[in-house]
Amino acid sequence: MVVAISFSCCMPSLHCPPIIHPFNFNKNKPPTVAAMSNDPVREWILSEGKATQITGISPVGGGCINSATRYDTDAGSFFVKTNRRIGPSMFEGEALGLNAMYETGSIRVPKPYKVGSLPTGGSYIIMEFIEFGASRRNQSALGRKLAEMHKAAKSEKGFGFHVDNTIGSTPQINTWMSDWIEFYAEHRLGYQLKLAREQYGDSTIYERGKRLARNLAPLFKDVVVEPCLLHGDLWSGNITYDKNGEPVILDPACYYGHNEAEFGMSWCAGFGGDFYKAYFEVMPAQPGFEQRRDLYTLYHYLNHYNLFGSGYRSNAMSIIDDYLRMLNV
Ligand SMILES: *[C@@H]1O[C@H](CO)[C@@H](O)[C@H](O)[C@H]1NC(C)=O
Ligand SMILES: *[C@@H]1O[C@H](CO)[C@@H](O)[C@H](O)[C@H]1NC(C)=O
Repeated sequence: MVVAISFSCCMPSLHCPPIIHPFNFNKNKPPTVAAMSNDPVREWILSEGKATQITGISPVGGGCINSATRYDTDAGSFFVKTNRRIGPSMFEGEALGLNAMYETGSIRVPKPYKVGSLPTGGSYIIMEFIEFGASRRNQSALGRKLAEMHKAAKSEKGFGFHVDNTIGSTPQINTWMSDWIEFYAEHRLGYQLKLAREQYGDSTIYERGKRLARNLAPLFKDVVVEPCLLHGDLWSGNITYDKNGEPVILDPACYYGHNEAEFGMSWCAGFGGDFYKAYFEVMPAQPGFEQRRDLYTLYHYLNHYNLFGSGYRSNAMSIIDDYLRMLNV
């Protein structure tokens, strides 16, 4: 199955609104006692964070949705993201995901410390600050560490996660299910197809996509799917390296799923031969891996279609049509 990709992926928005840091309003004036006691981030850093002094606060390049700030203190640095509009549930989901990955002791992720609400509305998350390092990208280290994470964390509850989260800004449903094919058909493909029909009135992609979703079983012949902990949104923007050249993964959309689904964003991730070689040394490829590749990119193409519009529709559509032909349904 060949899908031509003729445009660059995951284009960042060129029109981010200016980022306003809620705690930097009075940058040139010393903060008043009242302001300080109203700032839960500062309070946490100066208590549970074990700092006695904050020596610097600086903005860090982030996305449009959240603003990101580095706090330097005598107890080390902290990374803080704030969202001025929405409550803590999004950051709670992120913290649960980061923590689940952190606990595996495999690939490096920032340790989450604290999530809470801002007195002015909105929410924050405080986490470990990781100094990013050299531009040298070690693909085999990334492959091996990722496979170690997939191998380390299995779930007894089946497929899903403790909370729903988001993929981009689209909701991602993680209600537990014991059957992977059902989970993927309903919570992943089905959810996006429904959204496309609601948003664009696209009943063609909906009908054909649903037909595919009802007929996935032959693609999983002789495969035992185990619920592995997935980052869920692994593309080059969410992969970096620390000062020692260790891979670090960020901004997850975690859930327990088929490990192969982790490669669904591979068209934006630049995984090379070294990556896969190292990965499969730890997590051997399962029968039929190649024929499920496009199935797992389909979810992300549908999501991009729903997020960014019709430029991605033909990619999703040709994957669906190829499978319908191949499965003869
Ligand atoms: C990449 O990481 C592997 C360990 O996973 C290591 O053996 C290798 O030396 C590293 N390569 C470079 C260029 O740092
Ligand atoms: C991770 O990817 C998401 C898009 O899926 C993006 O919103 C976020 O900004 C990325 N994180 C980083 C650190 O670039």
